Amino acid sequence: MSFRLQPTPPARPNRCQLFGPGSRPAIFEKMAASAADVINLDLEDSVAPSDKDSARANVIEAISAVDWGNKTLSVRINSLDTPYWYRDVVDLLEKGGERLDQIMIPKVGCAEDLYAVDALVTAVERATGRTKSLGFEVIIESAAGIAHVEAIAAASPRLTAMSLGAADFAASMGMQTTGIGGTQENYYIIHEGTKHWGDPWHWAQAAIVAACRTHGVLPVDGPYGDFSDDDGFVAQAKRSATLGMVGKWAIHPKQVALANEVFTPSAEAVAEAREILEAMETAKANGEGATVYKGRLVDIASIKQAEVIVNQSEMIAG
Ligand code: COA
Ligand code: MG
Repeated sequence: MSFRLQPTPPARPNRCQLFGPGSRPAIFEKMAASAADVINLDLEDSVAPSDKDSARANVIEAISAVDWGNKTLSVRINSLDTPYWYRDVVDLLEKGGERLDQIMIPKVGCAEDLYAVDALVTAVERATGRTKSLGFEVIIESAAGIAHVEAIAAASPRLTAMSLGAADFAASMGMQTTGIGGTQENYYIIHEGTKHWGDPWHWAQAAIVAACRTHGVLPVDGPYGDFSDDDGFVAQAKRSATLGMVGKWAIHPKQVALANEVFTPSAEAVAEAREILEAMETAKANGEGATVYKGRLVDIASIKQAEVIVNQSEMIAG
């Protein structure tokens, strides 16, 4: 470890973030009754421009009217290139009440985007006497966002989570696809006449994870658009979990259970991690830094790897 220790991200489950348009209040109670850890009421791209004001009013009412239980409650505001975002922030804080945990800022392109929203939020919080500090989460979904990802991750103490937004990201990057996440047919290599598919989202995900882990922010995988494709969703989610992400969005309720399953360490994985910790305890008692577990090397680094799984499991259970 560097002299500068890696900060720990917020200790809250973030396995699934369920989205719903703010213009569709009929589903708010269903969202609250779901098994998602985080609820994202949307004011941005699932709401038509003509519905922006009414969607904002729906969401403000629902923040206190609906029983959100112990879920993290988040509202996705409009992006900073629109005329809507400042009204979203001011009205949510002035009229939305204290139940709101965080706002999601989409299409963030530089650290100054967070600075601007932080300044506005801080002023309204002081003016209204709000006692609970509003958190931020951001979406990396542009070329600028990924180019400045580390500065963005460091930009505000309010920041708790960062997601990859595949659709806008693909558009901004000029990627030749209309798919929202998952396998891309044309992203393959040929080996001995056979196609092998790679993962075009991999590097952006890994960049987000590195930036988040450096600055104590939760890295999250964004939407998987084809909600009829459970296998594709699960494969994408498993790749994200393997890379260090803690959860994934659901854009349809049927994706919630899939995400929860993937991002909850399995009983087998937890049992194996505990066995590794025990093997290392025995090694330590024998004055050894390394030992053999199931025919493979485990050493002091293995303790930290095993603790990632055990700690995640205990945090979710507790
Ligand atoms: N959260 C909770 N419940 C939802 C829901 C959501 N996001 N979307 C649909 N439902 C409910 C429906 O009301 C329906 O309930 P019922 O069985 O009581 O009638 C049930 O789940 C099945 O819905 P279905 O008919 O399959 O979907 P739909 O056609 O009503 O809606 C979408 C499909 C994709 C339009 C809708 O899920 C949606 O708006 N998703 C979120 C989009 C979004 O927020 N995008 C921004 C982030 S990318
Ligand atoms: Mg987007």
